[in-house]
Amino acid sequence: MLKRLFRTKSMEQLRASAEEPEHQLKKNLGSFDLTMFGIGAIIGAGIFSTIGTAAAGNLADGRLAAGPALILSFLFTAIICGFTALAYAELASMIPVSGSAYTYAYATLGELMAWILGWNLLLEYAISNVAVAISWGDYARSFLENICHIRIPGWLAIDPKSALMLNDGVAPMALHDKLSLLAQAKAGTVDGGHFFMNWEKLQSAPLLHGFPVCINLLAVVITVFITWLAYRGIKESAKANNWMVLIKVAILLAVIALGARFIHPDNLVGHPASWSGFAPNGFKGIQAGAGIIFFAFIGFDAVSTTAEECKDPGRDVPKGILWSLVICTVIYVLVAAVVLGMLHYTELVGKADPLSYVFEQHHLTWLAGIISIGAVIATTAALLVYQVGQPRIFMSMSRDGLLGPWFGKVHKRFGTPSNATIFTGFLVAIPAALLDIGFVVELANIGTISAFIVVCIAVLLMRKRRPDAPRKFRMPFAWVLAPLAILGCLWMARGLTMVTWKNFGLWLVVGLLIYAFYGSRNSRLQRDSQEA
Ligand code: ALA
Repeated sequence: MLKRLFRTKSMEQLRASAEEPEHQLKKNLGSFDLTMFGIGAIIGAGIFSTIGTAAAGNLADGRLAAGPALILSFLFTAIICGFTALAYAELASMIPVSGSAYTYAYATLGELMAWILGWNLLLEYAISNVAVAISWGDYARSFLENICHIRIPGWLAIDPKSALMLNDGVAPMALHDKLSLLAQAKAGTVDGGHFFMNWEKLQSAPLLHGFPVCINLLAVVITVFITWLAYRGIKESAKANNWMVLIKVAILLAVIALGARFIHPDNLVGHPASWSGFAPNGFKGIQAGAGIIFFAFIGFDAVSTTAEECKDPGRDVPKGILWSLVICTVIYVLVAAVVLGMLHYTELVGKADPLSYVFEQHHLTWLAGIISIGAVIATTAALLVYQVGQPRIFMSMSRDGLLGPWFGKVHKRFGTPSNATIFTGFLVAIPAALLDIGFVVELANIGTISAFIVVCIAVLLMRKRRPDAPRKFRMPFAWVLAPLAILGCLWMARGLTMVTWKNFGLWLVVGLLIYAFYGSRNSRLQRDSQEA
């Protein structure tokens, strides 16, 4: 039994199953497309939404402020991701098949770990896409309201948990008490605005058995549209992605170039210049900042899910991964320096749109408007990448018999994993309608961190077990950098809240049950060995 759980698939087996005619994807992509694909995945809700919270902290959650030292959080996170990117690049050049970290785990750590990894990648792709879709909805709504003067009813622009959030200073209360307070507020016997932070939206919500009906409608709309694009085909998707990437990079460069003139050194280091002005909570604040803005870096690894659609995956995938990460890191560090130089970090408390906000504060409202449009475009591109990546992981798992054959079906005309794409659409749209973004971001972060750790272990195991296997790309100083990346990932994970760790534990238990009842019985490796 134990042997079965840790049985690995050889590189040759992995390549062969990718080459079966019924599972063949169209090979259209080159290294330029892949770099654009990577940037499309990396720059999204993270940079446009989380800088403010990370710099200013959040008293309600007990999260420390990083202050201007958030620039260091960006640098540390970039270094950890950079080391991990090298590991991804080496594995992708050895095993150029769809499935990313899942496939690498199958080749090194065995079936059980591969399943767990595939299960955790669901957090990285589908669940982070839920966060991106919610953020898209927020920016799109403010764009529609402020620029097009189209109002979306409040109850169609918020999730139930956020709708029922209490104001600062109101004592915490059980759900039941909140609902009875809501009923009284609706009847006009108490002042809803006094208790509920989002009363403006909540008051329009219809009640179902006393519970407010609230959904993020725009998040659902964009998910459906993106799913349709992904269903139609990767080349069409890649073209759409390239345009969106160009626009969002241009907007971030504009933020840097135009904002640089408003940098005031006192905002960065205080007056007189001091470490405590720069890093108000020292190293702990920098760690807390890294725990949040890690979300902004998720995505460079998504490039490896398209390996089977590349003309020369062994060369192009490593290039795509590394270039996209380097370009985004440079942009992020500069954006952080400019934004935190333009305004004192304490003024960014609770600002979900920090990039537009700093320009508004300098009376450049037109520029703030353009940045909102940029955020909508940026998050659209990120959504597309994950919505394309997730079905390919499902497909790999189905090919291996860990998921049913339904997930592996390739569309005859479009050459895309059609069933898995539609399934992913539902998987993202439903939680996007109902969940709050903070919860989702942390869950996505912990799932991704776990995948990064496994990839770093996998690259070392491959060096030991298959030292002579051809590698078009070799990670330099692997025995130093991969362990450092693992330590860095653990450091970031420590910055996440206890609730997230508990939810992650629950997630793993559910995944193991599915494996016990389906995957372990239907695994192709298992069937092949029985037949042999
Ligand atoms: N890195 C992606 C984003 O920031 C997940 O939206």
